[in-house]
Amino acid sequence: MNDSMSRRELLKNTGRVAAATALAGVMIPQHVYAAEDNTIRLVLIGCGGRGTGAAQNALSVNNGPIKLVGMADVFPNRLNSSYQAIKGQFADKVDVPDDHKFIGFDGYKKAMDLLRPGDVAIMTTPVAFRWVHFTYAIQKDLNVFMEKPTTVDGPTTRKMLALAQESVKKNLKVGVGLMCRHCTARRELFDRIQGGQIGDLLMLRGYRMAGPTAHAFCGPVPANMSELLYQIQEFHAFLWASGGAVSDFLIHNIDEMCWMKDAWPVECKASGGRHYRGDYVDQNFDSYAMEYTFPDGSKAFMNGRCEEGCHQEFATYVHGTKGCAVVSQAGHAPSKARIYKGQKFDKENLAWSFPPPEPNPYQLEWDHLIAAIRSNTPYNEAERGAKASLVTSMGRMAAHTGQVITYDQILNCEHEFAPDVDKLTLDGPAPLIADAKGRYPVPQPGLNKTREY
Ligand SMILES: NC(=O)c1ccc[n+]([C@@H]2O[C@H](COP(=O)([O-])OP(=O)(O)OC[C@H]3O[C@@H](n4cnc5c(N)ncnc54)[C@H](O)[C@@H]3O)[C@@H](O)[C@H]2O)c1
Repeated sequence: MNDSMSRRELLKNTGRVAAATALAGVMIPQHVYAAEDNTIRLVLIGCGGRGTGAAQNALSVNNGPIKLVGMADVFPNRLNSSYQAIKGQFADKVDVPDDHKFIGFDGYKKAMDLLRPGDVAIMTTPVAFRWVHFTYAIQKDLNVFMEKPTTVDGPTTRKMLALAQESVKKNLKVGVGLMCRHCTARRELFDRIQGGQIGDLLMLRGYRMAGPTAHAFCGPVPANMSELLYQIQEFHAFLWASGGAVSDFLIHNIDEMCWMKDAWPVECKASGGRHYRGDYVDQNFDSYAMEYTFPDGSKAFMNGRCEEGCHQEFATYVHGTKGCAVVSQAGHAPSKARIYKGQKFDKENLAWSFPPPEPNPYQLEWDHLIAAIRSNTPYNEAERGAKASLVTSMGRMAAHTGQVITYDQILNCEHEFAPDVDKLTLDGPAPLIADAKGRYPVPQPGLNKTREY
């Protein structure tokens, strides 16, 4: 097993999670918790859809006192509606007075300054800011939950890999929002696949084919809004902010394939294109097809599309010499994890399926993180999250340049999409400036061979 969490570790951790849960409220966690106060404090940085959900999952963990004490965003309305939603559900676990609500690009510092070492910073802004926020959390000895993806290009991945090492050295606990890795059904599927139940894996397939999704398509900047805040609001449209539709949407399926294969791919070739663009000015293609190659020569194919009127599918499949398996079908949860004999997904060939109901993986990832904090068990997904983000970017760069891109090429690529993202100010310029027609640079495969734009 290379650098993903080994099965042995998983089993160990599962045991520890159970042990930690059994001792809930009894154990004094990391040395930083004084015996008289074992409350874990949280701050939420990036109070949008997922941030609100992540905070709600965190406050639902049932193994000791936990509370939300600070929030930061760049839009007051996002922060306020998130606050209302969380407070509405967890009145007595939310203690965020107005002077603990921070608006602006430096809000993350002020929020983290409210915490003691060993408390938890939740990082759910668009990915562009992840390395900036993670750097400060490590300085302050904070545990972290950060959403996927965690990097968008080679340079930010190198930064995150270095930070990951630092966070491990400091024994910080770091969760990364690839929540399917915490799914009970998929973990059993992984054991069965690694145990040889479907033979040697030859081919894996991922599909994220839908209509226009989230902010992947966007029009020109409205007259009443700053270009920077517009790009942040429409982050799926801009490669610096999100890594685009590929990094934001396809990473889950790509990561599931790498997990089941228990390897990271060494290279990728890919194609994609833009159709029916109208007035949209975002940087995405609307279809992507990637062929990843693993070290043993086997393949993973990823199909991504955001187009109306076309076949739609959300799934991850695995094919081995003796059988095939469903890792995901029709969404993240329930997984619908199943194993079939042969290569056809026919009812009569069904060999195994996970008995419903499945626990929610968004809750499990928090149960596991907080249990690890309370039991002071090693727990750090930062390196794995950076590698999953990197191989996703490898596929995107292969499509955007029209070249075969290797793991080492994307890792060592010098094109950093937003090198000064740590210096942004609310009234300052955006990392990407529109031309006179309000348009942004888009990838040109075959013409731009070494940079995506
Ligand atoms: N694991 C999953 O299934 C899953 C699902 C949805 C989103 N996500 C991830 O969560 C992240 C956020 O996505 P979302 O859908 O919640 O987007 P969103 O736009 O709803 O929320 C992002 C929030 O961050 C704020 N923000 C942006 N820059 C900031 C900064 N520098 N400092 C403070 N706040 C800032 C925005 O104003 C916004 O309120 C993305 O990385 C996304 O990929 C993961």
